[in-house]
Amino acid sequence: MTPTELTPAQGETLVLPDFLPVLPLKDVVLFPYVIVPLSVSRDRSIAAVDAALAEQRLLLLVAQRDASVEEPKPEELYGMGTAAAIMRMLKLPDGRIRLLVQGLSRVKIESILTDGPCLRAKVTRVAEPETPVPSSEEIEALVRSVKEQLEKTVNLGKPISPEVMLVAGTLDDPARLADLAASNLELKADEAQRILETVPAEERLRAVVEILGREVRVLTVQQEISGAAKSEIDKSQREYFLRQQLKAIQQELGETDDVAEEIAAYRAKVVEKKVPEEAAQEIEKQIKRLERGNPDSAENAMLRTYLDWMTGLPWGITSEDNLDLSRARTILDEDHYDLVKIKERIIEFLAVRKLAPESKGPILCFVGPPGVGKTSLGRSIARSLDRKFVRLSLGGVRDEAEIRGHRRTYVGALPGRIVQGLQTAGTSNPVFVLDEVDKIGADFRGDPSSALLEVLDPEQNKAFRDHYLGVSYDLSKVLFITTANVLDTIQPAFVDRMEVIRLSGYTLEEKLSIARRHLVPKQSKENGLPDGAIAFTDDGLRKVIESYTREAGLRNLEREIGSCCRKVAVRHASQDTKKVKVDAKTAEKLLGIPRFRQDEALSVDQVGAATGLAWTAVGGDVLIIEARAVPGKGRLQLTGQLGDVMKESAQAALTLARSRAAELGIPEKYFETHDLHVHVPEGAIPKDGPSAGVTMATVLVSIFGKRAVRRDVAMTGEITLRGEVLPIGGVKEKVLAARRAGIKTVILPKANERDLEEIPEELRKELTFVFAKTVDDVLGAALLGKGRKLPARKKAARAAPSAKPAVARRTRK
Ligand SMILES: Nc1ncnc2c1ncn2[C@@H]1O[C@H](COP(=O)(O)OP(=O)(O)O)[C@@H](O)[C@H]1O
Ligand SMILES: [Mg+2]
Repeated sequence: MTPTELTPAQGETLVLPDFLPVLPLKDVVLFPYVIVPLSVSRDRSIAAVDAALAEQRLLLLVAQRDASVEEPKPEELYGMGTAAAIMRMLKLPDGRIRLLVQGLSRVKIESILTDGPCLRAKVTRVAEPETPVPSSEEIEALVRSVKEQLEKTVNLGKPISPEVMLVAGTLDDPARLADLAASNLELKADEAQRILETVPAEERLRAVVEILGREVRVLTVQQEISGAAKSEIDKSQREYFLRQQLKAIQQELGETDDVAEEIAAYRAKVVEKKVPEEAAQEIEKQIKRLERGNPDSAENAMLRTYLDWMTGLPWGITSEDNLDLSRARTILDEDHYDLVKIKERIIEFLAVRKLAPESKGPILCFVGPPGVGKTSLGRSIARSLDRKFVRLSLGGVRDEAEIRGHRRTYVGALPGRIVQGLQTAGTSNPVFVLDEVDKIGADFRGDPSSALLEVLDPEQNKAFRDHYLGVSYDLSKVLFITTANVLDTIQPAFVDRMEVIRLSGYTLEEKLSIARRHLVPKQSKENGLPDGAIAFTDDGLRKVIESYTREAGLRNLEREIGSCCRKVAVRHASQDTKKVKVDAKTAEKLLGIPRFRQDEALSVDQVGAATGLAWTAVGGDVLIIEARAVPGKGRLQLTGQLGDVMKESAQAALTLARSRAAELGIPEKYFETHDLHVHVPEGAIPKDGPSAGVTMATVLVSIFGKRAVRRDVAMTGEITLRGEVLPIGGVKEKVLAARRAGIKTVILPKANERDLEEIPEELRKELTFVFAKTVDDVLGAALLGKGRKLPARKKAARAAPSAKPAVARRTRK
């Protein structure tokens, strides 16, 4: 036999031998005339193929009843199979065989021989039914039905090759048509076997029609299921078209929907506000996205927020400046007491603006302790210029995004605080106070101060880019003012850009005047008291200032006055409208137990205790420094929460004293047999700074020389090992503190003499000032007693140092 296809006629006429080698099939049924590829791997099956090849290349293919059986016994095979010819054979390297076989004819298995390497079956051919010509109407109908249904399954997606369909269309043997259909429907083995075993044409067709009918129903359902999934995707597309149609219809009817109205409003604002080109383009771009999107989607909500911001900003809107200088002066005086020099500087600043509106003046930076009026000066400037006022507190701002905004891709993104400030102001030229620039932080989220630098730089702020807006905004018309408590923590690049104006703390008298003129009226109004319902006597205010506040500024004072007003307001609200006069006693009744004891000077002149002057963030303070010598080995112990700088100045004081031991009449052995303990009592407040140097030296010399320190003398100054006294900061605050404590004489470094100008005349008259160039000047003024005076120093020692205090000059307090 040649390995080529057999025509039906050949197949039918072929004479079969009585016995055929058996190839059992798992899950497949071979029909006559059908060609299939097979893979053979079981030993007995390979033997069967070998046997067939040795004979006429003919095999019996028969399905197993159970596909899981590896070595089927005769009774585990169906009783009818198909004789087949091997068309092609390929042995694979692993011993398996690939076969291409063609079914020839149905055969009935008479018996199976099990001896030998493969099964052998005794078979008899089953004749195919004769095609009646003409066929019955019954058969005709079934044939058409099969053809139709086949067509349907293909349309429903059944993968049947076009060739098969072509053959089926032209085939007019009903029995063969049934076989063809059955072999192409991927039937289960038992179903296919049933068809194989059905010989009569009509019956076979009926069975196939039934199977096809079921197949069509299954395919229909399957298509419905996948169709539903698909339509889900198409839905949004469809919605879009519907929406477009709706829009067209509404337009036709002269109606507009919400979105269209909204969009029209956005566009109108762009026109009305003279939004710059770049921003207008961006707005238009986002409006387009809004139009396309689903109105209820999260994306559209985001777009709306963005468009609200963009169209709500005061693009190009500026208020008219009022540059009437005498009016400005009146306003500044109205709002703030004294501060003469500062107000003068502000007036100059305004005058320059008036003469050269386009000039970029410096940025003012008010520096001083809390509550001295830095922020409220900013407010006054806004008022006198007739500009809007915005304040941005930078305390604790660590994230660059707070200044510059988050990119829009963030959930809940917003513009930065600069842009938010402008939005609040409603103009593009407000007075913008950047409060507490010294408290700005920096961390991994980027450095906010570099963003601020850009904000303040007149070269760059014309086109400030906020990440959220994504377009530039012109900040050049904004009048920025900054404030800080100290300059130390501010980046130098920052300080360079600003003109620093220092404000210092207020004296008791100044506080009294400010309270009377500003704070009391302001607080009683804020708490709803009618005019004159509360009146403070001088004593009353003094009591509030001295016993309830300890500060350079006015914040707590204002709060305490407010607290008095509220207490009185409560009485008023309960119909007790008696006028309240607040004297010292009433103040204590209203405010409770006094919170602060006034700094007190030492009660007696004594050895080993001296009064220093310190400067803290809340103002000046007196600082008692104590020292004792006890038997020991020359160690120095320091206690009282001293910072490193203060510890160092204690060491320096000690070294200085030791180097002068002989002059001071201290025995050689003294330091080897004594330990020194220096202590700075009071309040567990951390203390630092070099300005206690002279006090340390004084108290040590007092101990060594057994000379008392005058109780009414207070001192401040840094020392060097050579005995020079170097200048210090915070003179005014320190002098005020000394006065409060009842000190009579204040020792200051010589180089600080000019700072005395800051101190009000009346105070200067009350106190005696000693300006010390060297430690000896200090000791001379502070120590009592006949004890040994320091001998005059040798000329050579004195010549070198005094000329250049500037070398070691520090601005630390
Ligand atoms: N010289 C002054 N005259 C009148 N009121 C003042 C003066 N200095 C400060 N104040 C008031 O004290 C309060 C605190 O001032 P504020 O500007 O908040 O201080 P700062 O910003 O310096 O911490 C404000 O109510 C302010 O009006
Ligand atoms: Mg402030």
